[in-house]
Amino acid sequence: GVMRELTGIDKKEDRLAKKYSINEVIIVSGNSDTSPWVKAELGKECASCIKRNLSGENIIAVTGGSTLAAVADMLTPDSRKTLFVPARGGLGEDVHNQANTIAANMAAKMNSSYRVLYVPEQVSKEAYLSFMKEPAIKEVISLIKTANIVVHGIGDANVMAGRRKSSPEIMMKIKDGNAVGEAFGYYFNEKPEIVHKVHTVGIQKEDLDHADSVIAVAGGSSKAKAIRAYLKMAPSATTLITDESVANELLKG
Ligand code: F6P
Repeated sequence: GVMRELTGIDKKEDRLAKKYSINEVIIVSGNSDTSPWVKAELGKECASCIKRNLSGENIIAVTGGSTLAAVADMLTPDSRKTLFVPARGGLGEDVHNQANTIAANMAAKMNSSYRVLYVPEQVSKEAYLSFMKEPAIKEVISLIKTANIVVHGIGDANVMAGRRKSSPEIMMKIKDGNAVGEAFGYYFNEKPEIVHKVHTVGIQKEDLDHADSVIAVAGGSSKAKAIRAYLKMAPSATTLITDESVANELLKG
């Protein structure tokens, strides 16, 4: 639109997509750390991006978090067939931040369906392995692995480890490895190297290469380092939806 041209946002989007060799970048104005309505704008852009990428039949894998919750708020009914699934099993989040909750809310907003994946976290190895053999569990996992669209958040490593009440050992691992960011349960540093991975089922990093579209949605200047590091290893099918505070940081250097 005219506004995007006048403010030069469209040029910044193109420059960033080229710089990080990803499919597309969408920038909303402001800083979502300081202005709550900016997160709602990220949600709105992400919801329309999901709609643009829909085929006749879809499996959409989603992660958790408050940004994804803002995306759910903006979705509207659609006649195309869509199944929402959580991207990965338990990551230690509170129920309102969990991918299962987001998947159910998105399905409700789009008049579509969803499946949940409850992974037991504090159980013996034997219990875990027999759980994994359950046909119903195996079915959800295989649905997750065939998702054509993946929508995910990105977070600051320390913030996420704290939010998940990670053990002192894991906190140390994250600190010693200089982790700056987190996505899908993977904690990574600026290089980027994976310094810690939450052990759970569902989408693994390699699986992202099979999705038609991967939509990363994250904003707020406090996440700039995390987002920059993530983009260095993001699959080329990625669309980044972020805010101007992050975009300006990413364009530097
Ligand atoms: O735990 C799910 C998750 O998507 C993380 O992978 C990500 O770091 C975080 O949530 C983002 O949360 P928020 O949108 O609340 O910052």
